[in-house]
Amino acid sequence: MEAAHLLRWVALIAVMASISRCGEPDQTQHSGHAREMNHSSTLTEVNTIDAPLVVNCTIPVCDGPLKDIYCIGPILTSSWQFGLQKSCPGAKIKGTPQTVLENFHNLTYPITRESFTSFCDENFENVKYLEKVKFDDWKENPELIGKIPDLRRRKLALEAHRRWNLLGRRFSPEVVANGSQYPVTPVPNPFIVPGGDFDIYFYWDSYWVIEGLLVSNMTATVRGIISNFAQLVDTHGFIPNSGKLQLSARSQPPMFTQMLYEYFIATGDANFTRSILPSVEKELQFWEKNRQFSVMKDGAAFNVFQYKTTSNCPRPENFLVDYWQGVNSTRKPEDVWSSTTSACESGWDFSSRWFDLNGTNAYSKKSIHTNSIVPVDLNTFMTWNYRAVAILYKKLNETDKSADFRKKFNDLSATLEKFFWDEQEVRSTCKSQKIRIISGIWLDFDIELNAPRRSFYPANLFPLLVLKATGDVIKRVGEYLEKNSVFTMPGGIPSTLPVNSTEQWDFPNVWAPTLHLFVISLLSTRDAYLVQKAKETADKFTSNVYQGMFEPPEGAKSGIWEKYDARKADGSHGGGGEYPVQEGFAWTNGAVLHLIMMFDQPAQFGFTRRQQFGLESGDSGPDEGKSGMLGAFPNNAVIIGLLAFCFCLSILFVVVSNHHLRRVLERRRERNERAEQDQMDRLLRDMDSDED
Ligand SMILES: *[C@@H]1O[C@H](CO)[C@@H](O)[C@H](O)[C@H]1NC(C)=O
Ligand SMILES: *[C@@H]1O[C@H](CO)[C@@H](O)[C@H](O)[C@H]1NC(C)=O
Ligand SMILES: *[C@@H]1O[C@H](CO)[C@@H](O)[C@H](O)[C@H]1NC(C)=O
Ligand SMILES: *[C@@H]1O[C@H](CO)[C@@H](O)[C@H](O)[C@H]1NC(C)=O
Ligand SMILES: *[C@@H]1O[C@H](CO)[C@@H](O)[C@H](O)[C@H]1NC(C)=O
Ligand SMILES: *[C@@H]1O[C@H](CO)[C@@H](O)[C@H](O)[C@H]1NC(C)=O
Ligand SMILES: *[C@@H]1O[C@H](CO)[C@@H](O)[C@H](O)[C@H]1NC(C)=O
Ligand SMILES: *[C@@H]1O[C@H](CO)[C@@H](O)[C@H](O)[C@H]1NC(C)=O
Ligand SMILES: *[C@@H]1O[C@H](CO)[C@@H](O)[C@H](O)[C@H]1NC(C)=O
Ligand SMILES: *[C@@H]1O[C@H](CO)[C@@H](O)[C@H](O)[C@H]1NC(C)=O
Repeated sequence: MEAAHLLRWVALIAVMASISRCGEPDQTQHSGHAREMNHSSTLTEVNTIDAPLVVNCTIPVCDGPLKDIYCIGPILTSSWQFGLQKSCPGAKIKGTPQTVLENFHNLTYPITRESFTSFCDENFENVKYLEKVKFDDWKENPELIGKIPDLRRRKLALEAHRRWNLLGRRFSPEVVANGSQYPVTPVPNPFIVPGGDFDIYFYWDSYWVIEGLLVSNMTATVRGIISNFAQLVDTHGFIPNSGKLQLSARSQPPMFTQMLYEYFIATGDANFTRSILPSVEKELQFWEKNRQFSVMKDGAAFNVFQYKTTSNCPRPENFLVDYWQGVNSTRKPEDVWSSTTSACESGWDFSSRWFDLNGTNAYSKKSIHTNSIVPVDLNTFMTWNYRAVAILYKKLNETDKSADFRKKFNDLSATLEKFFWDEQEVRSTCKSQKIRIISGIWLDFDIELNAPRRSFYPANLFPLLVLKATGDVIKRVGEYLEKNSVFTMPGGIPSTLPVNSTEQWDFPNVWAPTLHLFVISLLSTRDAYLVQKAKETADKFTSNVYQGMFEPPEGAKSGIWEKYDARKADGSHGGGGEYPVQEGFAWTNGAVLHLIMMFDQPAQFGFTRRQQFGLESGDSGPDEGKSGMLGAFPNNAVIIGLLAFCFCLSILFVVVSNHHLRRVLERRRERNERAEQDQMDRLLRDMDSDED
């Protein structure tokens, strides 16, 4: 079995994806990396500026006293026009914001490169915000990682574990004390940075970081990171994209609730969980108040969530590029700029997922209109969050709160089913009666075109995380995946199928977070075929990351990458987008640790753990949700009745799934794939065992 297993490892490769972050990496202030982007003619550097560049927008990407220095205004535009944006404005202002602005206004037009350079030297300093951290709860050889039977996986897991100490940071005491001079939002506890030039905390990355830290048994570090986010919600109103001021007015996919949920499952720590839940609720309220809209579809109104930032100005981190993009667009510049930061908020920055799919600007960033798209993943995340909060409150014996969130969960689940499931009605040509063609998947919806966007994205599968998939749905999902040939790619599941785009969230790039959620989505169905595909996909990716780290392609650097190439199994990293590929890489490390453990040790890290904890029953859909609400029911008889019913159902489920499984396993045996099969056998036995 080991030999076959090894062979497969050698043959397969993986993918990963990275951090959706807009703009170039954080090199302006922290590192000397040169940006490798070629500017078109209108972006050519100048030597004198005759008049300030007028940008016709009203709401910059940040607020506060440093806004006119770092986020909008002539210091920023001049710096870009001179081509000095990598060094100016610098990491820290000297004096107060008022004196810096006054000093700039005292320069007289035309402004020369020399006078601007002296202004920069006199008004800014380059300092580091962060200090390296060695974590007290990091142990050299964690027991669980040492138990991983497969040598390659164990080696990769240890490497990912080792890297926590390379990526640990905290804000320096000086930044915390004199925060108003730095364009950052400090947090009190140490955290993990993504790596490469991304040298500050990021929001959604931290979910995969936490999954990995829990494998590393670093629960104190996890508590610190969660507390940081809780503090940000309490002081800032929501969790910003990252700690950089320039990224502070937009959020990122709302994964805070899931961070707490995973922590609770791993530790059972009720007190800490209780102390954080008010911040979790506050964050969800932010999304409800600012990102939820009523949208019409087929004559009915639905309350859906969108990534939709309020700022409507170019991003400082790519100012002139955005400026021309907006000015040259056929759409209103402010709409382009707003949709650009909304795409950053989605984490998929950038992707043809937010562009036209037909017409002259198809697959081009010129057509970006994120603000008109209703994304299936965000609505899934909110549903998932409602369920997690309902379960956590139930565990804490707060039944009223639990019921409130259960209701939100049920409502949004219904929307997921009705609004996003693609069901196309087509009139038969021979008869006049209507026949229904169900595409068989959940899709993003374009409000402008009043039509679903029928492209493959891994996110199309995410509703499986929260909806109870019936046999018919499971069958169609399987067909959808086969039809789109997504399992044929050796390196993992790409962000899109091949399209005419070089954005980093398009083909061929595979990113860790989407791959990880794709795998969990398939696992959630408990369907033998999809579970097997989930395992194969996880193996491909893990193997790909292994190759890139320990046996990179000839002539390539070794590393754990931000994103991988779906077309290759040799560890090749991905590319495209606005900045060179980054190495490090926190969410890849975290996702790989969790993917390995989920399958190797399901009792601790797979679905089994959740069930043992009594959090989720065999089904993870709305029905499970209702049974999870028992505490709120007034009548004991009802409870007992329901329990009996659930018990019978689960017996039935075990019988049916055992039967189903046996058939699948027999077929596999016939094909003489013993190694694979033994492993599947173990996995499924583990999954079944706690449904007894
Ligand atoms: C950028 O432009 C320079 C000079 O025009 C050229 O030599 C170089 O190959 C270009 N780089 C890329 C990545 O296109
Ligand atoms: C600025 O934007 C407003 C609102 O979109 C528009 O009416 C106006 O024409 C724009 N001005 C310039 C100079 O582009
Ligand atoms: C800017 O110029 C004004 C008048 O020329 C002067 O009063 C002021 O002190 C100058 N400010 C700074 C910060 O140099
Ligand atoms: C804060 O800034 C002031 C003035 O620049 C300096 O004197 C002080 O030492 C700084 N505080 C810390 C903790 O570094
Ligand atoms: C995790 O760490 C705690 C100490 O923080 C220790 O008591 C426990 O045994 C560790 N668990 C494992 C599985 O190593
Ligand atoms: C949790 O909090 C309660 C009440 O504050 C306290 O009595 C209990 O000891 C705490 N439990 C733990 C494990 O810290
Ligand atoms: C914007 O459009 C102008 C004229 O239509 C063109 O010359 C210029 O190259 C374009 N700039 C960019 C950055 O696309
Ligand atoms: C794309 O196709 C849709 C419907 O097929 C149409 O309504 C829309 O106008 C087209 N968009 C472009 C930019 O051609
Ligand atoms: C909730 O109530 C049950 C039954 O009264 C009790 O066993 C359990 O410890 C309580 N949980 C918490 C977190 O207080
Ligand atoms: C791809 O895009 C480029 C420029 O964006 C365009 O010139 C080319 O025709 C496109 N190719 C296809 C096959 O659409």
